[in-house]
Amino acid sequence: MKLNLQIQFATPWLLLALGFSQAQATGCDRPCLENLLSSYLTALVAHDPSRLPTSPDVKYVENSQILPLGTGMWKIADTLGKYRHVFADPESNQVGAITTLNENGVSVIYVVRIALDQHRNIREIETQITRDAVGAGRYEKMVQPEAVWLESVPPAQRISRAMLIAQTNKYYTGMERNDPKGNYSFFDKDCDRLEDGLQTTNQKNGDPYGHSNDTSFASLGCEAQFQTGFLGFVTKIRDRRYPVVDEERQAVFAITIFDHNGTVRELPSVNGTSSPIPPYFDVPRTLAATEAFRLRGEKLFRIEMTLTEVPYGMRSAFLADTPVQIGMANSHITNSKSCDRSCLDKILDQVLQAILNNNTSSLSLANEVRYSENGQFLPLGDGLWETVGSISKPGVDDYAARFSDPETGTVAYWGITKEQTTLGVLALRIKVDNGSITEIEAIDVRAESTGLRGGTMTLMRPPLPIEWEGTSLGQLDPVFKQNSSGFGTTSLPLVNAYLNGLEKHSSIGVHFDSSCTRRDNGFRGNLSCSAQMDGKGDSPNGLFNLTTAVRDRRILVTDSRKGVVIAVAMIDNPALSPSSLPATQMVPSTYMVPQLIKIENGTISRVESMVKWMPFGYTSAWTEGI
Ligand SMILES: *[C@@H]1O[C@H](CO)[C@@H](O)[C@H](O)[C@H]1NC(C)=O
Ligand SMILES: *[C@@H]1O[C@H](CO)[C@@H](O)[C@H](O)[C@H]1NC(C)=O
Ligand SMILES: *[C@@H]1O[C@H](CO)[C@@H](O)[C@H](O)[C@H]1NC(C)=O
Ligand SMILES: *[C@@H]1O[C@H](CO)[C@@H](O)[C@H](O)[C@H]1NC(C)=O
Ligand SMILES: *[C@@H]1O[C@H](CO)[C@@H](O)[C@H](O)[C@H]1NC(C)=O
Ligand SMILES: *[C@@H]1O[C@H](CO)[C@@H](O)[C@H](O)[C@H]1NC(C)=O
Ligand SMILES: *[C@@H]1O[C@H](CO)[C@@H](O)[C@H](O)[C@H]1NC(C)=O
Ligand SMILES: *[C@@H]1O[C@H](CO)[C@@H](O)[C@H](O)[C@H]1NC(C)=O
Ligand SMILES: *[C@@H]1O[C@H](CO)[C@@H](O)[C@H](O)[C@H]1NC(C)=O
Ligand SMILES: *[C@@H]1O[C@H](CO)[C@@H](O)[C@H](O)[C@H]1NC(C)=O
Ligand SMILES: *[C@@H]1O[C@H](CO)[C@@H](O)[C@H](O)[C@H]1NC(C)=O
Repeated sequence: MKLNLQIQFATPWLLLALGFSQAQATGCDRPCLENLLSSYLTALVAHDPSRLPTSPDVKYVENSQILPLGTGMWKIADTLGKYRHVFADPESNQVGAITTLNENGVSVIYVVRIALDQHRNIREIETQITRDAVGAGRYEKMVQPEAVWLESVPPAQRISRAMLIAQTNKYYTGMERNDPKGNYSFFDKDCDRLEDGLQTTNQKNGDPYGHSNDTSFASLGCEAQFQTGFLGFVTKIRDRRYPVVDEERQAVFAITIFDHNGTVRELPSVNGTSSPIPPYFDVPRTLAATEAFRLRGEKLFRIEMTLTEVPYGMRSAFLADTPVQIGMANSHITNSKSCDRSCLDKILDQVLQAILNNNTSSLSLANEVRYSENGQFLPLGDGLWETVGSISKPGVDDYAARFSDPETGTVAYWGITKEQTTLGVLALRIKVDNGSITEIEAIDVRAESTGLRGGTMTLMRPPLPIEWEGTSLGQLDPVFKQNSSGFGTTSLPLVNAYLNGLEKHSSIGVHFDSSCTRRDNGFRGNLSCSAQMDGKGDSPNGLFNLTTAVRDRRILVTDSRKGVVIAVAMIDNPALSPSSLPATQMVPSTYMVPQLIKIENGTISRVESMVKWMPFGYTSAWTEGI
């Protein structure tokens, strides 16, 4: 009995000295957790995960993507910054931290949560990298958190763990669809909030808030801000987790996901003036947020938040109870009721119209119809169904076409969407089985432009070397609409060889017609398809200079009459090799690339490709490949 007590309070070193193996170790106290965090960060900048005690099935997550430990940030973090705000939770055996470091020489905000198993081996590492060099710079100037965060609160003044979580949860419930009439008494009257190191409450400098032009919001206190209803454009806050509760310091380290479905179009009046929602929110957006809360008594006293963007609808990689939907396109082809080209074309037009109306009642849908948008499964009626105002029409507008494959009951669309003022290039696949729609898959590469208050650029990553900012793409090259001769049965190996070539940066074995040209995001250099693939000269604009794997390759449709294949692949840019790209562009990324490929006489003669930036390691929810 006595010995047991000693063991409980012993430090890990003492345990080892006493001859206890790690297998018998129990919880890790604050100094132990703080040491662990330091070791983690040191191992990270040394690019050496083998220094860490990890469990065999350790899960490593970077900006919501599951990656092998040692990849992504582990390859490019070079030095640690000064700011380090640590949250220790001996009860859950977890530590969280908001810190700064440099990757490829650029300062970033780095948030990490580490969970240990009962043997003190790391079982989970969850990181959020906010690529906001200005915000990271603010943190560097602060050097350390405001003192109130670091105080040990006397036990008599503490509230319970459950109460800490319950009070924190009220923040999210209050922000979701932010009702100006809500009861926001859970805020301390002296509450303040930091966002990327910037104070955004009680700020009397007249600075506009976020993407908006509103200069009053940030002048208000926490409670008064919620009483305006200003944050109502956050339509859902889901996957809420409170994994690290620092009871001694009365702080909660929370991780949640914010959806902005794009339907709220006006910010409420803050000080006699209401203003439109900024263009960034023209389209559905999801932001993954880590926020720390310091409570004083039962009230929220300090909030420290940072966030990054993930694809709309992205789920947390750590929620075991999240239903996992596995998609298999073109799996069971029954088609006892066959649908020819004109039947498929009609269904496509009906779906486009249904999207415009956000009303599926005219469609013949299978019971288990699945819909995905940019790789995430969503309910029909969510995502672009709620935001698209117009879609270019095949046969009418310059940049629109239909493709079909009656054999597999697949019809596809390539054209332009408009959501408020934001344009997008939509690749849409519809699968029809026995007269009913079983699958709808949308890939919409929306225009991203810098502009007033951040424009529509996806958050927390630098622009691509060639960004599509919504300028006219002209007419869709007529070859994509014409019949093809000699499409043949070799088209799929041909497309696969092409994707291999993209991966290897070599056109050897890729059958390009000598006149073949390719556009990326509307940009066509001078080079032929093969010279471009070989990385000759100025092309392809540095976009693919550092890319490696071309994975998750999928065929959306094969139209043998037109000789067109629509393929989509995830192309990784681990941002590793030395490059003449500006340092701010040396960010691990995955490009989701839908492309129209024209095949004639057994060769590729034209490629129209669009490139959408995704967090590094992004994987589509659909699992079948080619
Ligand atoms: C607001 O909520 C607090 C805490 O639950 C409660 O004490 C108070 O009466 C509520 N205020 C109003 C106006 O309902
Ligand atoms: C509201 O507007 C008035 C008049 O323009 C100004 O004096 C006041 O400071 C503003 N209040 C806030 C909270 O911005
Ligand atoms: C912000 O102000 C600028 C300049 O007045 C205006 O062009 C822009 O539309 C405004 N944006 C929003 C979101 O109100
Ligand atoms: C959808 O369209 C059908 C048929 O036009 C109509 O009856 C129904 O009211 C519409 N639903 C909604 C939610 O507008
Ligand atoms: C779109 O349709 C869905 C499903 O019926 C519905 O939940 C949603 O509120 C609709 N949105 C709009 C903006 O009409
Ligand atoms: C989008 O948000 C609006 C406003 O909160 C809501 O009414 C609508 O139901 C949401 N759409 C979906 C598909 O949940
Ligand atoms: C095809 O649909 C018809 C009704 O339209 C149904 O009677 C039949 O059982 C279906 N066949 C299959 C294989 O699902
Ligand atoms: C394409 O081929 C089909 C079938 O052979 C034919 O009916 C159609 O007229 C052709 N279209 C063009 C534009 O040549
Ligand atoms: C295309 O090539 C010509 C001459 O070879 C050159 O002058 C021009 O700058 C090139 N254009 C681009 C976009 O590279
Ligand atoms: C991309 O690689 C090509 C070929 O090595 C080179 O000429 C070009 O300068 C590179 N572009 C950038 C932006 O690094
Ligand atoms: C393909 O072959 C046909 C028939 O030989 C010819 O008319 C056509 O020009 C060829 N197309 C290409 C792109 O070479």
